[in-house]
Amino acid sequence: MQLIRLRIENDAMDISYHPAPDQPATAHYLIAYNPEQSIGENLENIKVRLAGLKFDAAVLDNGLDYPFSDTIVGVNYDRIDVGLALTNLLNIPVVSQTTVRRLGLVKAVQEKAHYLRWHLDYYGQYHGVRNNGQEAMLTVGNGYFGLRGAFLESHADKDNYPGTYVAGVFDQQTTKVHDHDVTNEDLVNLPNAQFMTFGVDHQTPFTINHHDLQDVYRSLDLKTGILTTTKIIQLASGHQLRVKSQKLANMHDWHRYSIRYQVTPINFSGSLQIYSEIDGSVVNSNVSRYNVFDQQHLHTLGIESHADTVFLSGQTRTSHVNYTLGAKLSSPDIKSLGAFDSQQQPQGVRQTVSLAVQAGQTYTFDKNVVIATSNAQDDPQLKKVRAELNQSSFDNTVKASTAYWAQTWQAADIRVQGDITSQRMLRVNVYHSFVSAAAVESGQLDASVGARGLHGEAYRGHVFWDEMFILPFYTLHRPELAKQLLLYRYRRLPAARQNATDAGFNGAMYPWQSAHKGDEQSQFTHLNPITKTWDPDNSRLQRHVSLDIAYNVWFYYHATRDQDFLNRYGMEMLLSIAAFWISKAKYDQQTGRYSISGVMGPDEFHENYPNSTDPGLTNNAYTNIMVTWLFSTIKALRATLSDHAYQQAAQAANFSAVQADQMETISHKLTLEINHSGVIAQFAGYFNLPTLDFRKYRQKYGNIARMDRILKAEGKTPDAYQVAKQADALMAFYNFDVPTVQNLIKTMGYQLPKEYLTHNIQYYLARTTHGSTLSRIVYAVLDQLDENYDDAWQLFSEALVSDYYDIQGGTTAEGIHLGVMGATLTLATRNFGGVSPLGNHLTVNPQLPDQWSNLHFKHLFQGVHYDFDVTQQAVRVVADQSQEIQVAGKTYQLKPNKPLTVAYVNN
Ligand code: BGC
Repeated sequence: MQLIRLRIENDAMDISYHPAPDQPATAHYLIAYNPEQSIGENLENIKVRLAGLKFDAAVLDNGLDYPFSDTIVGVNYDRIDVGLALTNLLNIPVVSQTTVRRLGLVKAVQEKAHYLRWHLDYYGQYHGVRNNGQEAMLTVGNGYFGLRGAFLESHADKDNYPGTYVAGVFDQQTTKVHDHDVTNEDLVNLPNAQFMTFGVDHQTPFTINHHDLQDVYRSLDLKTGILTTTKIIQLASGHQLRVKSQKLANMHDWHRYSIRYQVTPINFSGSLQIYSEIDGSVVNSNVSRYNVFDQQHLHTLGIESHADTVFLSGQTRTSHVNYTLGAKLSSPDIKSLGAFDSQQQPQGVRQTVSLAVQAGQTYTFDKNVVIATSNAQDDPQLKKVRAELNQSSFDNTVKASTAYWAQTWQAADIRVQGDITSQRMLRVNVYHSFVSAAAVESGQLDASVGARGLHGEAYRGHVFWDEMFILPFYTLHRPELAKQLLLYRYRRLPAARQNATDAGFNGAMYPWQSAHKGDEQSQFTHLNPITKTWDPDNSRLQRHVSLDIAYNVWFYYHATRDQDFLNRYGMEMLLSIAAFWISKAKYDQQTGRYSISGVMGPDEFHENYPNSTDPGLTNNAYTNIMVTWLFSTIKALRATLSDHAYQQAAQAANFSAVQADQMETISHKLTLEINHSGVIAQFAGYFNLPTLDFRKYRQKYGNIARMDRILKAEGKTPDAYQVAKQADALMAFYNFDVPTVQNLIKTMGYQLPKEYLTHNIQYYLARTTHGSTLSRIVYAVLDQLDENYDDAWQLFSEALVSDYYDIQGGTTAEGIHLGVMGATLTLATRNFGGVSPLGNHLTVNPQLPDQWSNLHFKHLFQGVHYDFDVTQQAVRVVADQSQEIQVAGKTYQLKPNKPLTVAYVNN
């Protein structure tokens, strides 16, 4: 093991390099501390000075003595967890000399590395969007509800936002803006029942503030789903306390969550109060730019308190969803908590318990909470909530959560060796995927996954095409969950038909933004934060969303062979979507081809042609390629259905034999524009637009990701330039393998020159600003196709940490980006692991990044359980049934439970 040892002093960082643990240092660095820079920036200097040296771990000589972390140091009246910071910077475990003394170096390093792979930790108190982003990342939930990882002792204010969301519970409010009635449908922020705090001597209850909060450490344990927060508090009165809280969702009885709140008076004995609330006065205020709208969705109807238990019931204002929350306060080790004082407030209820405490002793309180609503098959009756509450305990919540996560990690973990950051972030992404959806698997909820999970209020909790980026992961690990998400769309087929009819088309046109009913929930106007003006928003013209849903239907069927699903729901959805596109495609006498106009591709910078009053664009390449794919896929899938089953689906979709013929004709004649080097135009006329000098814009503005806003502020429009927010023309290469896309383009009647793919990738990369988190992940795949492995790794790495570092500067505060999280999981297994589920058999062509020495994961594909273990040299695969598989270009016959190992050459 090669080591660095470090000592962080107020004026310098003293570092030595040891080629082996017991060998003397071969290099010494004294890096002066720059007081002008932050501690983090100073630590960056270590990275620079140590560049080129190889080391596996760091030992910190002067870590402070804290129960939650051994790598915190004090520097110039400030403290930092050097371990967390250096692990992020150098991707190595950092241990303290004290721990090394206790455990020995090898064990100390092993234990720390293991810990880092399973925890998401933050040390210190942050403010504003930075703290709000951490709250989103520390959300606990079970797919029924999401509970932001806010401090229990906080109410919504500029630094804290304790949001609570239940999947599928939406409410609409209408607000007058510029004399227009603007209606918005929000995922409702339900009453806050996580609130708990303490007080001393009946003085003002403690609230989060930076004078009293001396230290705080938050740790989300991905193995158990428990979020632990430890605070060291010094009140202005001189009282010192340690407060440790644990919070988790019940992953089995998904109406429940539990909190354990432990208070230790450090330097006093006396009187302690514990306060617990259900606060029904909350509004949706997580996204400040929405605050011009009416964000009040709750109407409290009843409050009850009985000894240790309180209830709050209410109804959402216009959707009339009833809800009841119940909370019970108890203590596992204090026999009688004495009298509870319950104070009913107009919009909430507060319980207070008072007790005499001794210095140095820990007092434990449990708060169990039950939330129920009248949405879908849910039941908010008080007596049911009470009965559930009586069965709840902190311990049984821990048991249910630990069991769920153990089973989930068993089936869906992606294990990476050689790279702590990748490992931790992939697990964080798996964790949030299930926090956002787990309970939907029960079939008792009517919900799909919102673009921002159940973690915040951006995009108002709406469901977008982002589903497509997460569904493959669910399908290959928990197919029933994927199916239930698709049924959310199936149930909204009538609404999608209505949308199509209203727009003058046949079939089904799914909305760009979907919420409760499945009608269009996109806004008509969008606030430009630079100009503070309301600009029209045509994003609803991203009609490709229906094709993305069709893709999800196909992928689910392809990976599961769930014929019953295809017969009863899938084919009807596909035909209904096809009918829409048939009516949208228009024959052009002049070209002898079909055209589709009035649409937008995924690139949201292009809403229409410059100087045109017609919204939308013509012949968006992604849309047209996907329409051709849909039409050929329906033809192929039709053969899997009996005539009877097909007729039933066709009848339900109102799909005639004439339309079936039209599909055939249109798919051979849809228009693309392709230039001489094979570059596919994003839409008709794209090549006529001027380009932008990104270098100049970067010099002027730094970050140009949101070039649309920059251009609008300059009085220009992105519509007029070859500039893209995200992947568009090349999206099909993310969805399918290259031969499939080539075939589709051939079906459409076009020839592509050699090297066309490289030309396309380079062309569009040079024009893309990655203004959406969904961009990097697609280009990582494209770069890999183009054998730009370093660039692919770079884009993947950025995508992997995009919420952790909140790379869009504040958007994580408003919820995680579930699409990119899901896509990183697919990329790890499909592109780096090389296991492609896109063909009829799995094919394996690993392309492991240099940073990963080993990758392990499982897939459930067409009823067969596979286990893959990939190193830089070989792939080992085991399946539980006989199966054909292709590894590194050769076909093998797997025998049940007999491992097959094949060597391959990594590029
Ligand atoms: C992206 C869309 C995405 C939406 C919701 C937008 O910024 O451009 O592609 O669907 O966010 O995540």
